[in-house]
Amino acid sequence: MTKAHSQRWEAERYIENAAFVPALGLPLIALLAPEKGERILDLGCGDGVLAATIAASGAQVTAVDGSPEMVAAARSRGLDARVMDGESLTFKEEFDAVFSNAALHWMPDADAVLLGVRRALRPGGRFVAEMGGHGNIASILVALAAVLSRRGIEASSLSPFYFPSADAYRARLERAGFAVSEITLFPRPTILPGSIEAWLDTFAEPFLGVLPAAQRLCARAEVADLLRPVLVDEKGTWIADYVRLRFRAVRDG
Ligand SMILES: C[S@@+](CC[C@H](N)C(=O)[O-])C[C@H]1O[C@@H](n2cnc3c(N)ncnc32)[C@H](O)[C@@H]1O
Repeated sequence: MTKAHSQRWEAERYIENAAFVPALGLPLIALLAPEKGERILDLGCGDGVLAATIAASGAQVTAVDGSPEMVAAARSRGLDARVMDGESLTFKEEFDAVFSNAALHWMPDADAVLLGVRRALRPGGRFVAEMGGHGNIASILVALAAVLSRRGIEASSLSPFYFPSADAYRARLERAGFAVSEITLFPRPTILPGSIEAWLDTFAEPFLGVLPAAQRLCARAEVADLLRPVLVDEKGTWIADYVRLRFRAVRDG
């Protein structure tokens, strides 16, 4: 059996290869509509770009992330940021809203996440989030599976991702005690700032990281070769097949 390899989050690499993630998450702040003095939790805050934007509205922001390095980067922006696993949140009725961008799909125990989010909110508090949804990065996952299968490795057992459909996630939210005011699954073709190789280095470690170091570059090149005909446009730009699930839900009672 192949040993699972987890994703390492490095703040410098994130700024270089993934600044588009918080940039494209900005419209979610409009859906959150933070108000001055509100207490807001940013779950999976990364390096804190969006948490800082929410704080600039006058809300009191607490930011949590599982990566000590990302939390250090968020703290360097002057944020109250803490290392905490999103699947075991410890807050009790402390927040008017919980916000999350591009993080929930990295937390496969979705029910544990929702239990913690519900408990963290005051009654009537809102949960506003965007995550990868059903079909997200489908071509990239297929290419990774093909390249790993050439080496006798089953990629589906390595995937850290949870990309739910709108119906499945709505049902999960309702079971967890939320009333869903909106939930939408939408394609969001995403222009990458560089090559697919940089994207794979930043986000695909659970897959390519299982290979011996000497094989990784070759495997990464094979993934890029498979993807080039479908993800590169006529100008030579890599455009990834992102699909997002965006929702707003309110804690019942
Ligand atoms: C793609 S980044 C998004 C960061 C930020 N929200 C943004 O929009 O830039 C995903 C973040 O989720 C965090 N994360 C992944 N699994 C987590 C978990 N179980 N608990 C808390 N944070 C987690 C990672 O450390 C990473 O910072």
